[in-house]
Amino acid sequence: MNIQRILVACAIMGSAFVKMEAQSLLPRPRSIEMMKGSYDLQTPYRLLDESGVQVPAALWEIFPSPSSVSAAKSVKPYVAFRKMNGAVSSPEAYRLNICKDSVVVSAPSAIGFLRAAQTLAQLRTNHKLPCCVVEDAPAFSWRGAMLDVSRHFFPVSYLKRQIDALASYKLNRLHLHLTDAAGWRMEIKRYPRLTNFAAWRTDSLWKSWWQGGRRYVAEGTPGAYGGYYTQQELRELVRYAEERGITIVPEIEMPAHSEEVLAAYPELSCTHEPYKQADFCPGNIGVYDFLENVLLEVMDVFPSEYIHVGGDEAARASWSACPLCRRLMQELGTDKTEDLQTYLIRHMGKFLRSHGRRLVGWDEIIDEGLAQGSTVMVWRDKELARKAIAHDCDVILSPGKFCYFDGYQDAPPSQPEAMGAYLPLERVYSYAPLQGLTPEECRRVKGVQGNLWAEYIPTEQHAEHMLYPRILAIAEMGWNGTEQKNYADFRQRAMHETDRLRAKGIMAFDLRKEQGNRSEYFRPARHKALGASVKYLLPYNSHYCGAGEATLTDGLRGGWDFGDGRWQGFIRGKRFDVVVDLGTRQKISRVHCNIMQTCGPEIFFPARFVVSVSDDGENFRVVHEEASPVVRTASPEVRKWGWQGRERARYIRLQAEPGEFGGWIFVDEVEVY
Ligand code: ACM
Ligand code: ZN
Repeated sequence: MNIQRILVACAIMGSAFVKMEAQSLLPRPRSIEMMKGSYDLQTPYRLLDESGVQVPAALWEIFPSPSSVSAAKSVKPYVAFRKMNGAVSSPEAYRLNICKDSVVVSAPSAIGFLRAAQTLAQLRTNHKLPCCVVEDAPAFSWRGAMLDVSRHFFPVSYLKRQIDALASYKLNRLHLHLTDAAGWRMEIKRYPRLTNFAAWRTDSLWKSWWQGGRRYVAEGTPGAYGGYYTQQELRELVRYAEERGITIVPEIEMPAHSEEVLAAYPELSCTHEPYKQADFCPGNIGVYDFLENVLLEVMDVFPSEYIHVGGDEAARASWSACPLCRRLMQELGTDKTEDLQTYLIRHMGKFLRSHGRRLVGWDEIIDEGLAQGSTVMVWRDKELARKAIAHDCDVILSPGKFCYFDGYQDAPPSQPEAMGAYLPLERVYSYAPLQGLTPEECRRVKGVQGNLWAEYIPTEQHAEHMLYPRILAIAEMGWNGTEQKNYADFRQRAMHETDRLRAKGIMAFDLRKEQGNRSEYFRPARHKALGASVKYLLPYNSHYCGAGEATLTDGLRGGWDFGDGRWQGFIRGKRFDVVVDLGTRQKISRVHCNIMQTCGPEIFFPARFVVSVSDDGENFRVVHEEASPVVRTASPEVRKWGWQGRERARYIRLQAEPGEFGGWIFVDEVEVY
């Protein structure tokens, strides 16, 4: 039932108009006015096609078999497709005017008629359309979803299923992460080893492969895991997506995340040895030939104006010792390896431009210099968006904190193991992409995107569980904009959609079962150290600073997200060493801090934990010391580490040291009773 949740918000006396909210539409149209009655789709009707374009097949699915086709004046009931006149904000704009005996669909272009059809499909219930007027256009021209098919490989049928679902929410870009260390996924005719070797690995699970030997094997080797898409399959996929209003944007990683290429073609790395490097050698002219040849085949298959070249997380470890890289640095008059990255990306930008395409890359492409005219996909910091815009680049916003769907969407103990932090639907929805930007800067924001990295996602069902409903929040903000946020209303509609998706066999996370954040997050702690000053003998990390020096004694306990501003992260030296000053010498019977372990991002419990007390802040007496090896756990956990007894003291020192895995230590509060 699509319209089962129509709420009458207000009825205007004496008018046929009743203002309602159509709870079922997602994304919500920019403007909708509901009226009484409905149009019966089973009644024979006359068709007036004045669209001037070839209307999409999806529209004929809503209005099959007219009794007659006429350009003459309308005889009711009729359905008219009209070209939208006047100033139109987007080719995707459309207007619907649905009355009891007529439907007028107006749009400026075929894609606008397709968007109209997608709304009509959501409005349709039991062969009826509710009477209403819809005026609609997207807030952003890029409304994207990224699927990582390298870390785990998914078949074309999976991609088509996602295209069907994503299109119904008016998403219009499917970014395919086609290459990475875990496997190359696109047939490149000129370089067969990319798919008969670099697409296959020893372990089916990314995690065991990554923690094991990270080896590739020849296609056909018994037990080999992997796969790739042929160019023919990809062309068909491009056509399938285009019919549904989605452009596929291919991503070919460079200069980093390329271990698989360098195992197949080691001459493209600095040392020419397989299994040694993740980065191409930017000093080697052969690398440019290789990348250009690959991109020529990519452009031949994918008509997308935008071609993604990755550009993220280059370690550049081998570049400074490589004679070819050093020679290029000399030619460029620099001693910074970062400039080689800029050189390579700029080169590729020029190459793509010379073929009428545009380069898009992760935000590292602006770290040291700008590939002008490029589009920057921001995944780290909003400030990088401002920097890119200041240098005349467009941006697509996709920050990890809001848009990375490899994190837990519910309490981790209730969920399959995930890579990232806690990112529930509400948090995705709360993202305000334009906040803090000037109107001028906002114009350079082309859109938003949700990313499904697949390191911990081996199956199609698991991928769907992670993608839906969170991608619906991206669809909503991408189309409807971000001015009228109402999470309760959105959640209702998302719940309805997850039911609809599940009925179609898409394994969306069941929002009805959502448990939410840690209960402690909602219960501030009242204890003796509340507001006490804390001396940091080792500093907290500036990226995970919580609320600064108040964090450990503000009474606020962290949630499942270690980046929620209540946790402090320690990575320097022996990690955690603080002294809490209670202000006066007093009785204490219990001291503990909460420590989180979440192994994906290398946050571990300590191997050694010590509590000491002092009256003068100088001379400390150890009252508690424990040591035990750190054991990896599949799911994030929070545990109390502390001491119980009878003491009098003013100063309490807490120390936590890492075990064999090193990594971070994260603490939210020091509680003293
Ligand atoms: C990224 O997450 N490295 C783009
Ligand atoms: Zn080199």
